[in-house]
Amino acid sequence: MATVYYTASSVDGFIATPEHSLAWLLERDVDPRGPMGHDDFMAGVGALAMGAGTYRWLLTNGLGEDRSWPYEIPSWVLTHRTVEVVHPSITPTQAPVRDVHRQMVAAAGGRDVWVVGGGDVAGQFADAGLLDEVWVQYAPVTLGAGSPLLPRALELELLDVQRNRDFACVRYRVVDGA
Ligand SMILES: NC(=O)c1ccc[n+]([C@@H]2O[C@H](COP(=O)([O-])OP(=O)(O)OC[C@H]3O[C@@H](n4cnc5c(N)ncnc54)[C@H](OP(=O)(O)O)[C@@H]3O)[C@@H](O)[C@H]2O)c1
Repeated sequence: MATVYYTASSVDGFIATPEHSLAWLLERDVDPRGPMGHDDFMAGVGALAMGAGTYRWLLTNGLGEDRSWPYEIPSWVLTHRTVEVVHPSITPTQAPVRDVHRQMVAAAGGRDVWVVGGGDVAGQFADAGLLDEVWVQYAPVTLGAGSPLLPRALELELLDVQRNRDFACVRYRVVDGA
């Protein structure tokens, strides 16, 4: 079991534009079943957590035409507000990250735990010593500004680098807070 921040980024380290657009990402060519692709990654994941901003983005842009939630696995949304719960697998929470992680691990049944983002939420898991790996798909673009990939000082060990069509896919182990 590993706790993994798996995300896509611009080359200059942003996961969304200042306007929260992902157009720079979604127009790219990627094989979801290719190296470090989404399908294989998801097959090993048993629970996920995301911040309220990412959840809002998904509700606005990321649901299918039938407005269905894309994940069946238990999902936690970190928020201080009341949010619309669009699937029974979703639990909004403002519990400490440590408690959320304990619940995620229990629900994941030995599979990995996915920290979806944003970057500060991944940082909160790292602050608590709970983040094991960072997987980044780098899109061939710079954005100049936006939501930072992982706004913390962390020492990382490079585990793997692979190409998936337009993307340079890199897998790191979190060594320690730097
Ligand atoms: N490139 C990619 O693959 C990728 C992946 C993920 C996200 N994204 C994008 O990145 C952007 C990230 O959005 P964002 O900057 O708003 O970050 P976010 O992490 O999605 O949401 C941040 C919000 O989550 C809530 N929150 C965070 N930590 C909390 C805690 N410990 N307890 C309770 N609530 C907590 C707070 O909202 P409240 O206090 O208001 O509730 C906070 O303002 C979005 O545009 C998203 O679509 C891109």
